[in-house]
Amino acid sequence: MLSPFPLGRPARMAVMASGRGTNLEALLEAFPPGNPWGEVVLVLSDNPEAYALKRAERRGVEAVAIPWRGRRSFEAEAQALLRARGVDLVLLAGFMRLLSPGFVEAWYGRLLNIHPSLLPDYPGLRVHERVLEGGEKETGSTVHFVDQGMDTGPIVLQGRVPVLPGDTPETLERRVLFLEHRLYPKAVRLVLSGLAFPPGEGLKALLGEAWPRFQGLSPREKPLYLRVAALLSAWGLRDRVPAALLGQGGDWARGAFLTAHLLAEDHPALRQELAQLPEEVRLRAEEGLRRVELPL
Ligand code: GAR
Repeated sequence: MLSPFPLGRPARMAVMASGRGTNLEALLEAFPPGNPWGEVVLVLSDNPEAYALKRAERRGVEAVAIPWRGRRSFEAEAQALLRARGVDLVLLAGFMRLLSPGFVEAWYGRLLNIHPSLLPDYPGLRVHERVLEGGEKETGSTVHFVDQGMDTGPIVLQGRVPVLPGDTPETLERRVLFLEHRLYPKAVRLVLSGLAFPPGEGLKALLGEAWPRFQGLSPREKPLYLRVAALLSAWGLRDRVPAALLGQGGDWARGAFLTAHLLAEDHPALRQELAQLPEEVRLRAEEGLRRVELPL
């Protein structure tokens, strides 16, 4: 199994937030009760004053403050609630505490975070200030699986915005937040549809002779290749995965790479290429795009 998803039923999601919760709002909006992808059933905060809790209450979603009295007690309470509510996927959205290796291990592959930079660049705090100090021309946001590091962990999806002359940390923050509110729900749909997952043992077997090539890719390149492997598997073409990842898979591999690209970022030139592939490939690709609700 590459991924515990898709579940075959709507997912039950929890969001953990420490502050104002604009990303939480976007997730509540994207995954309301009755949504076929799933719904946000629980919001947890380490900060009883967090505006995020009010946003959840306003929408009738269970909101629980677990005031921070140390990591061990917070995590024990959080874990008990997550289990009691039958949560499938946990989303950190401006949650400003580091979780313990034990907690992360228990949720690995089902625990996501959003960070306002193009990781692996600029992990940590004061991101927008540091991006400006670094003279970057471009920044963005990253949704990633949480592992034991800070803002490390396999990337699910990234989005980019330009840094413009005259930008301040505030203008940059606003631009990146706008992006994040669209990026996070889309990343969640990729995970829930089984098209994004952390590399594991199942993947090594699937990739076969392409495994060393995959391991040599940068953290930003890997998600594209993972989507290709997942798409070909979903299309019943597991045996083509190694050749596809080595650039030799023919029309099906092309279709999978084009689809995998378009799933992350729309591009007219790639859509045009897709339209020219044999019909059976094109139809599969279109179905793949529909899976994360991209318009055709
Ligand atoms: C977001 O920009 C999120 O990426 C960032 O905090 C902000 C929360 O805003 N998270 C981190 O920096 C985690 N390392 P919000 O409370 O309005 O969603």
